[in-house]
Amino acid sequence: MTTADIVLKVTGVSKRFGGLQALSDVGITIRRGQVYGLIGPNGAGKTTFFNVITGLYTPDSGTFELAGKPYQPTAVHEVARAGIARTFQNIRLFAEMTALENVMVGRHIRTQSGLLGAIFHTPGFLAEEAAIAQRARELLDYVGIGKYADFKARTLSYGDQRRLEIARALATDPQLIALDEPAAGMNATEKVMLRELIDRIRKDNRTILLIEHDVKLVMGLCDRVTVLDYGKQIAEGTPAEVQSNPAVIEAYLGTGGH
Ligand SMILES: Nc1ncnc2c1ncn2[C@@H]1O[C@H](COP(=O)(O)OP(=O)(O)OP(=O)(O)O)[C@@H](O)[C@H]1O
Ligand SMILES: [Mg+2]
Repeated sequence: MTTADIVLKVTGVSKRFGGLQALSDVGITIRRGQVYGLIGPNGAGKTTFFNVITGLYTPDSGTFELAGKPYQPTAVHEVARAGIARTFQNIRLFAEMTALENVMVGRHIRTQSGLLGAIFHTPGFLAEEAAIAQRARELLDYVGIGKYADFKARTLSYGDQRRLEIARALATDPQLIALDEPAAGMNATEKVMLRELIDRIRKDNRTILLIEHDVKLVMGLCDRVTVLDYGKQIAEGTPAEVQSNPAVIEAYLGTGGH
């Protein structure tokens, strides 16, 4: 493996909220094509880590490299442009917009004609708009909800809304797609479908960072896993290594497990 294989390299990330050290010196390296798991008990700092790497929270320290280039996660749109897309633990869709429109919004960060084109409906803008709609329909099919393209997002089932978020994230053609508990609230059948979808995304040469409580899903999908507990990285390795690590067992048993 060479450094060219590394998609995301983050070192020394710390984040404090008042008296609470939410992250202490956390670092991960994710290679191209991996599904990388981020696990840990409730409140361990997983979402905070996502919020830091995607520019929602300013870290107290940390260095960040995406596809070999340093990046500063100072603004959400900069991070999206740099090539990280994400979904949210609490679904964040435009509820009154259609599924198709929600995906098109994701794609717009990659357009050329920009705001003026959109206002004056220039020919370049109209052609681009048609191409974006076409691509958005393909992505809805890809995640398995093509038939709901013209339904308002709020009318979709919970599991389908989660899939819509994934389609929207994919619309930016990200280097890395970060999924914050995509299986939360899904029933067993939906989880099987989600697992197939994540597998397919990986096979299509994408790299995935996954926060997930469902141990079966994590163990079945991830190439490597980092375990956080009270903001500290207590283990890193393959799922098998991590699963048998005494510190990990202790962290989970100590909080009642998941
Ligand atoms: N904006 C904030 N202000 C203050 N404290 C925060 C903020 N965001 C997170 N925290 C705290 O930081 C800690 C880590 O929270 P975080 O949401 O990252 O945990 P998590 O690992 O994602 O947990 P869960 O599995 O429940 O989603 C928690 O104690 C939380 O209350
Ligand atoms: Mg969380």
